[in-house]
Amino acid sequence: MLSTKIASLDFATPLMTGSGTFGHDPAALRFLNPADLGALVLKTVTPEPRHGNPVPRMAEFEGGIVNAIGLENKGLAYWQDTVAPTLEGLPVPVVANAGGHCADDFVEVVKAFQDMNGVAAIELNLSCPNVQGGILYSTDSIGLAKVVTACREVSDKPMFVKLSPNVTDIRPLAKAAADSGADALTVCNTLIGMLVDWRLRQPVLANGIGGMSGPAVKPVAMHMVSQCAAAVDIPIIASGGAACADDVLEFVVAGATAVQIGTAAFLNPAVISQIASDLRSILAQENLTLADLRGSLKL
Ligand SMILES: Cc1cc2nc3c(=O)[nH]c(=O)nc-3n(C[C@H](O)[C@H](O)[C@H](O)COP(=O)(O)O)c2cc1C
Repeated sequence: MLSTKIASLDFATPLMTGSGTFGHDPAALRFLNPADLGALVLKTVTPEPRHGNPVPRMAEFEGGIVNAIGLENKGLAYWQDTVAPTLEGLPVPVVANAGGHCADDFVEVVKAFQDMNGVAAIELNLSCPNVQGGILYSTDSIGLAKVVTACREVSDKPMFVKLSPNVTDIRPLAKAAADSGADALTVCNTLIGMLVDWRLRQPVLANGIGGMSGPAVKPVAMHMVSQCAAAVDIPIIASGGAACADDVLEFVVAGATAVQIGTAAFLNPAVISQIASDLRSILAQENLTLADLRGSLKL
């Protein structure tokens, strides 16, 4: 009833984990019934290991959290040797997420993912607000197109391009990604923000700024999902503040084919199973399918 298709892949449900919120490996599957999860999206991998930003690098506020993890990961070589073998034969498709500072970094990681049997699809993180240097692919459609085209040349696996909300108009970036060979767009990454400790007269995060996620970003993501769905013909994977079945259905009505759940799982690691169960009940009660609702927003 909840099955969903993107490119050549069949997903049991439209629900996916959000990259960076369910770990670097499949350990998080312990908290989930595989029948409830469409895909396990793992944390961004970069060519070289990264320690990430200094702590504190995550803090809560009323509407969610602000993080500046800075893409901490053990690097591609470790991932190839240690994580990739654990991905084979899992009960859910795995989406590996690639990051880097330049096109060559992305190509190196994508090439490696292409050769890993356990990686069903690739997500390009062209939108991390917490790393410095390199071209700002997230805001420059020409730079973004170059990276997507280069990655497309080295991989025929389904490729999702994750866009940034930190732009005045997301549509040129969505079009650039679609025209360069993306199979789907993940809309969107975190929104740049800052928390201040007035007593200390300093930002709460050691990095100063970070990426905002959780319920407060849902209206921003909703608008951008709706804009992207109208601008391109490839599926949209919503990401930003979804925490319950109604949130998921709102994103579907706005045009999403799948929805990633990130911050909500910090509060309740089993939230994806709860949402899947609620979706089944609501759709049965209303005698509706996801396809009936997808993109049905009346503007
Ligand atoms: C602690 C944390 C770490 C994250 N790390 C990554 C990452 O490594 N790669 C990535 O593409 N997105 C990363 N994200 C962004 C999430 O995947 C997601 O796009 C964003 O948090 C919005 O969804 P949410 O409100 O459901 O969390 C991270 C988010 C959080 C909160």
